[in-house]
Amino acid sequence: SGTNMMRVAVIGGEGIGPEVTGQARRVLSWFTERRRLPVTLEDAEFGLEAYRRTGKVIPPETRAAIDGADAILFGATGGPETAEVPAEARREGSLLKLRRSLDLYANLRPIITDPALYEAAPLKERVLRGVDFIIVRELSSGIYFGEPRGIETGPDGSRRGFNTNSYTAEEVRRVARFAFGLARSRRGRLCSVDKANVMEASVLWREEVVALHASEFPDVALSHLYVDNAAMQIVRDPAQFDVMVTDNIFGDILSDCAAMAAGSLGMLPSASLGPADTRGRRQALYEPVHGSAPDIAGKGIANPLGSILSVAMMLRLTLGQPDDAALLERAVADALARGARTADIAEPGQAALSTAAMGDAVLASLERLA
Ligand code: NAI
Ligand code: MG
Repeated sequence: SGTNMMRVAVIGGEGIGPEVTGQARRVLSWFTERRRLPVTLEDAEFGLEAYRRTGKVIPPETRAAIDGADAILFGATGGPETAEVPAEARREGSLLKLRRSLDLYANLRPIITDPALYEAAPLKERVLRGVDFIIVRELSSGIYFGEPRGIETGPDGSRRGFNTNSYTAEEVRRVARFAFGLARSRRGRLCSVDKANVMEASVLWREEVVALHASEFPDVALSHLYVDNAAMQIVRDPAQFDVMVTDNIFGDILSDCAAMAAGSLGMLPSASLGPADTRGRRQALYEPVHGSAPDIAGKGIANPLGSILSVAMMLRLTLGQPDDAALLERAVADALARGARTADIAEPGQAALSTAAMGDAVLASLERLA
């Protein structure tokens, strides 16, 4: 019926964004059609194409689609070919601003190593066995947003660039509360990552995490790492982690690092969630962790699995279909087990599939397993 029909805005964006999102969209359509999921998809423009046509990076129709959506399936944005868009229009239409305008403060980035990719991954198999953790990156504050910021020229002509790393106690508490809850629903371990030895924003971060642990989550095993050590530990022994919570910039960097445990940046999905309303629903944006990859854009060779696995997160976290989410994750594993590989996860000498052929492989596995 129309009343419980959910809406998903599909925004490919720029670079490889539209290529990978196209395959994720086919997969989501498979669920709406074959599993009669009450979801309508609405395609919307974002980025260079939108700017050329309308003079805005995020045109009003796109903003309307976003505001009316229960979830957004996003591709990627950015790249050198977009230099024609003036800086001001870029800033107005930036993904950072969009995330912030939706108050998407909790960015979940699961890292799982599929055994089929042990060979393809740059780390050793004994390091990769059992890797299954989630990075919770604070997404709405920190140094990417702090004021003052800018580049200024002094009286003597010398230039200075500066940013402000700022967190309020409430910003730390809400993302930490989310991460503690997630840890409680998993293996009960939370690692908080900061740089409290040298930065005040991190000192406050750690104090708030410790206080919340004592008051609301004493049953969760809490540990702390400085970010430099955390980067090393992710490479040395990623299987030690269950849930990791960290600030905006550290989470950005550590998740690309953690991608090597999953075999490729192209494998990683993400969900970005806002505050829960009175009915427990959250604004939600689902996107692969990678960017627009200008070096491979337009060639049809990008790995769509990060985007496809983002659909699984959407099925679980917004659409209320945990069984369908699990089915999709099994289908991806099945396709990999049968040897489906895009170039980024292919072994030397192995024939690589195109983006679309990888989409075909996942759909074939869905048909087989459904
Ligand atoms: P990137 O994530 O786009 O690419 C890094 C490397 O990983 C490249 O060699 C790329 O070819 C490879 N790669 C990424 N995704 C892949 C996939 N699905 N399959 C196979 N290989 C893949 O990061 P980069 O190059 O630093 O940034 C490019 C542009 O993307 C920049 O303009 C940046 O600002 C933007 N960006 C956008 C993000 C977003 O929209 N969420 C996130 C990160 C960067
Ligand atoms: Mg990044």
